[in-house]
Amino acid sequence: MMANPELIVRPVVVSDADQFLALWDALDTETENMLFAPGERQATLEQQVEQLSKSVESAYSAVFVLENVLNTEIAGFIGCRQNTRIRDRHCAYLVLGIKQKYTGQGWGGKLLFEAENWAISRGLHRLELSVMANNEFAIKLYERFGFNIEGTKQDAVKLSSGYCDEHVMGKIL
Ligand SMILES: CC(C)(COP(=O)(O)OP(=O)(O)OC[C@H]1O[C@@H](n2cnc3c(N)ncnc32)[C@H](O)[C@@H]1OP(=O)(O)O)[C@@H](O)C(=O)NCCC(=O)NCCS
Repeated sequence: MMANPELIVRPVVVSDADQFLALWDALDTETENMLFAPGERQATLEQQVEQLSKSVESAYSAVFVLENVLNTEIAGFIGCRQNTRIRDRHCAYLVLGIKQKYTGQGWGGKLLFEAENWAISRGLHRLELSVMANNEFAIKLYERFGFNIEGTKQDAVKLSSGYCDEHVMGKIL
């Protein structure tokens, strides 16, 4: 499907904090594919500002957001966190989420592309992420992007339908 032209991908800024809280709220209520249950994440605006400030200041992390430029809504994000120890700092972990009404339009791939470029610019060797085994759209996207399922944690999460496995997926850059 053609990408929606009023959306852009850009690095997060600290003043996105209120929109970011709204994004978490939407993701936690719309989908069971992220780890937090509705209402479980209780960050205040101040805490969100602090968290984004740390992320923006740290060379070891990056967050890119998908912004609807018509109404400045943040429609999705990708977070990248590089490990810091000598033996594993060549690896970064990714977390990705898009509000439901913006899914299925190829934006996940654009966010992954930004994350991968950031990782390459940092000289990283490996990207990894976790995904619930029932999240077929996400797995399809990650496989298309060159991630492989490296292992499966049995019954790692408990959803309304019962226990669900979680895959660990990795990509060597
Ligand atoms: C998973 C997610 C990141 C994928 O991003 P996306 O922008 O929707 O991805 P794409 O548009 O590239 O879709 C990936 C594939 O799933 C299909 N798909 C995605 N959403 C769909 C939908 N609602 N209905 C039908 N197909 C859909 C796409 O057609 C595509 O398949 P293709 O490769 O055969 O074309 C996004 O849907 C999302 O954030 N979902 C909710 C939270 C979540 O699951 N986060 C990931 C946790 S690991």
